[in-house]
Amino acid sequence: MVPLVVEATRERAWETLNRYTKSEALLRHALAVEASVRAYARKFGQDEELWAATALLHDFDYEIHPTLDKHPQDGAPILTERGYPDWFVRAILSHANHLDLERASQLEKTLFACDELAGFVHACGLVRPTGIDGLEPKSVKKKLKQPSFAAGVHRDEVYAGAEGLGIELDDHIRNVIESMQPIASELGLRTAADAEEANA
Ligand SMILES: [Fe+2]
Ligand SMILES: [Fe+2]
Repeated sequence: MVPLVVEATRERAWETLNRYTKSEALLRHALAVEASVRAYARKFGQDEELWAATALLHDFDYEIHPTLDKHPQDGAPILTERGYPDWFVRAILSHANHLDLERASQLEKTLFACDELAGFVHACGLVRPTGIDGLEPKSVKKKLKQPSFAAGVHRDEVYAGAEGLGIELDDHIRNVIESMQPIASELGLRTAADAEEANA
């Protein structure tokens, strides 16, 4: 039976994500990437809801498929079964470098550019008393050059992502930081206000 194609709303994506993902760290990663991709949708005049839904689900199967011989390719049929449209599933597949898919749409380029960098900015925020408040691109770039810091983040993908998007790395880093700031506490990050309170 051909599944019915559903509308990829943010609400539906969140429900699908939570069905397959219990880990708080993974949920937070999804939210961080969502915030960044959503900010770019706004900047580019694209559909925020659709872009946010795609970003939310890009790693939805990582908990059940934690290795690259399965993630995200074995997750894709699950999304199709649940009625997500082909372009949506394709965008999610395209974030995985090992699948060698050309990133054709602006959404695909944006998702790829935000995935590793949002993870990295998140990691930078976790080790700072003020989280990502006051975090500057300069210090993010410095940390990118320290291989032992957040070693799981592929630096080459961070650089290639910004290039594919056609945005200067400094500007891209700043955009990602700013997009995550409003949801810092949901991401488990401290804020400048928390630090102030602790010092009072
Ligand atoms: Fe992934
Ligand atoms: Fe990811």
